[in-house]
Amino acid sequence: MSGYYVSSYVKKKAVKYLSITQFEPTDARAAFPCFDEPDFKATFNITLGHCSYLNALSNMPLKERIPMLKHEGWTWSMFETTELMPTYLVAFSVNDFQGYAKHTSCNQKRVKFTTWAREASIREQLKYATEIGPRLLNYYEQLFDIKYPLPKMDQLAVPDFSAGAMENWGLITYREAALFYAPDVSSEADKQRVTNIIAHELAHQWFGNLVTMSWWDDLWLNEGFATYIATLGMEKMCCKWNAYEEESLDNMLAILSTDAYCSTRPIHQPVTTANQIGGLFDPITYRKGAVIIRMMHMFIGDMAFRLGLNNYLERHAYGNAKQEDLWQALTQIAHDHSSLPKDLCLQTIMDSWTLQKGYPLIKVRRHYANKCAVISQSRFQLQPEQQPSARQDQLFEQKRQYCWFVPISYTSELAHNFNSTAPSRKFGCVARQKASRCRCGCVICLENEWIILNVQLTAPYRVDYDSCNWRLLIDALKGLDFQQIHVLNRAQLIDDAMTLAWTGQRSYALALELLSYLSQEREYMPWRAALDQFLPIYRIVRQTDQYEIFQKFMLCLIEPIYKQLEGMREDSKQRHHVVHKTLIASWACRLQHADCVKSAMDYWQQLISARAANPVPPDLRAVVYCTAMRNGKAKDWQLMWELYCNSTVASEQRLMLQALGCTPKECLLQRYVQLIFSRKSLIRKQDALLVLGSIIRNEIGYRIAKQYYMQHFQLLYKYFWPNIRELASLLVHFSQQMSTEQELQQLTVLSSSRLLQRHTSRSCQRALEQAELNLAWRKERLLQFIGCLNT
Ligand code: BES
Ligand code: ZN
Repeated sequence: MSGYYVSSYVKKKAVKYLSITQFEPTDARAAFPCFDEPDFKATFNITLGHCSYLNALSNMPLKERIPMLKHEGWTWSMFETTELMPTYLVAFSVNDFQGYAKHTSCNQKRVKFTTWAREASIREQLKYATEIGPRLLNYYEQLFDIKYPLPKMDQLAVPDFSAGAMENWGLITYREAALFYAPDVSSEADKQRVTNIIAHELAHQWFGNLVTMSWWDDLWLNEGFATYIATLGMEKMCCKWNAYEEESLDNMLAILSTDAYCSTRPIHQPVTTANQIGGLFDPITYRKGAVIIRMMHMFIGDMAFRLGLNNYLERHAYGNAKQEDLWQALTQIAHDHSSLPKDLCLQTIMDSWTLQKGYPLIKVRRHYANKCAVISQSRFQLQPEQQPSARQDQLFEQKRQYCWFVPISYTSELAHNFNSTAPSRKFGCVARQKASRCRCGCVICLENEWIILNVQLTAPYRVDYDSCNWRLLIDALKGLDFQQIHVLNRAQLIDDAMTLAWTGQRSYALALELLSYLSQEREYMPWRAALDQFLPIYRIVRQTDQYEIFQKFMLCLIEPIYKQLEGMREDSKQRHHVVHKTLIASWACRLQHADCVKSAMDYWQQLISARAANPVPPDLRAVVYCTAMRNGKAKDWQLMWELYCNSTVASEQRLMLQALGCTPKECLLQRYVQLIFSRKSLIRKQDALLVLGSIIRNEIGYRIAKQYYMQHFQLLYKYFWPNIRELASLLVHFSQQMSTEQELQQLTVLSSSRLLQRHTSRSCQRALEQAELNLAWRKERLLQFIGCLNT
């Protein structure tokens, strides 16, 4: 699935073929000789020769079709010359697809927007993408105040596709599950996923295509922006999703978690070989990139942000840029609009976030008698830095004083201002020692009231307060007015308290008392933060004798919200927050909540005895399918497999493949693993990770998959080649289930493979670190944690 390759699908029992490209990052060179680097921009004249009854597509509109003189039934398709562009964005395809066209509504139908897929039967599933694409394009034209420069945009659903989607200029490619939305079958979450991915790829048409990073070390200028801009696009398309806040929280929680490992890296990462580039497409580039852009958006304000981006895009259009160019363009506008002090430029602030790995923990220590609070910063890590292998690294790390320019915003019980996210204090890179020697000795003045830092979670840092302030916060959360604290900050308090308890810097007694306020919490985001925190704990505890206590505690915790959201009852009017309802239901069934399991099994019975339409509510299907497999018989599994084979809906196929991994039956799991790698497999290579992921999440499946991995490493290596990153990411999946010495040993052996190390040493390190952390937690904190559940 890289370079210029063949994909296929079955139509009326015949296999049909199509050709398609995937060049990013370095595979244009596999299709034609070229200077295959992002700042060698050129114009391209593309001509494709193909059978006359097929379509040919490329970045630009077709100029003319000429029959081949000496080959009857064959045609040359010649395309118009492209704009100046890098090789990795070139794309072409020959296929027998059907297209659905729409002109963008504004701008005198300037842009012809067509969405393509196989077979007319899929038409219904394409409708959503056909509608939302042009709307997003229009929105971005307004947002950036720059027109989309090409006369057309094609979106193509490719049956075999390795990434989720690819932003080729004028010819975006998607995997089918990322573009298809089937009304009445797909869930609301699917709709959001489709919107998000289209919003992401369309944002690239400006960030990446019009202005390209000069070199891969600034990949975040592409991916971080596309990720952040997509949250704005989604919010605009459907405000009832609350996408801007929820996607931002999603990115923030992911970063606060992954960027705290020793094996993390800075956003801006030097690379010199083609192999290293693949490793940059990770959460640090995408999510941390998006997080720091949001942080900047919030401290310079919307006006300066928009004008600044316009300035940047105009200045570098059809060219390349480095991160310094972005800071320069934005600083100029921010100074003009007085949204940044004149003596400060963005580069000073932002370099501390892009060039250093990790993020800070801000400690707040209050002197209650003097009514003041002092803050200090240090890097937050889940465990102390391990010995880096290279000596030079080691010296560097030892000397290094991590320090960030943190936009500190705060509010307190009396000030109570959760609206202003502007920094309340001047930026400063205040290292740990300096803070306490600050001139007046006092940074923030307060009455006897709680204080919260990082209003609306604008910047990536954690906060640890003194015990007394934690106490005040817990009381506020448990009080009637808990909603006075912004919902994002409620999620933050949960995430911080639980993480500090995980590392031992705070006690579980404190964290769990804070979480007890959840009995009155109705909103999605705090629940999301809490349940995300319980997931790694669940994975460890379920292997121990303490599981029952944990299970009982969790069932009590979620019971009120389960009832409130009406559990597994269909919610056709969408009175409840859909994603929230699905989250709670999936936990309830996972914990064997009686009503949840029974409802799921009832739905399943209805489904297998139904002749016509699927009676399971789309938003509950993920939970129902998995629960049915977890509690069903071998024959249910067989039925699910057949449903998968006969399904024509990509989102359903995904759910079914995942559900098949939920069975606890060893023989079925054995068979399922083998099915992935069998010749003529009915599971496409692009879905292998999805399937393996679901098997590994299963306690029993984990052991089976691990054994298979150890015994058939060579086979797996061949299967995934050249996408070794996927193979290595399996190690991280495994490591999340590990918490014993023996497992750590196994992992050490697995990850020592030279083949893996060469491509993906970072994933290997990350996996080892994860297993070590789990092991340490089980030894040192499991009992403390369980003890707190009993009281
Ligand atoms: N440019 C990437 C596609 C890509 C990924 C190319 C990795 C080469 C290596 C595309 O814009 C992208 O980021 N796709 C995401 C989807 C997005 C919604 C996060 C993907 O494929 O997961
Ligand atoms: Zn992207």
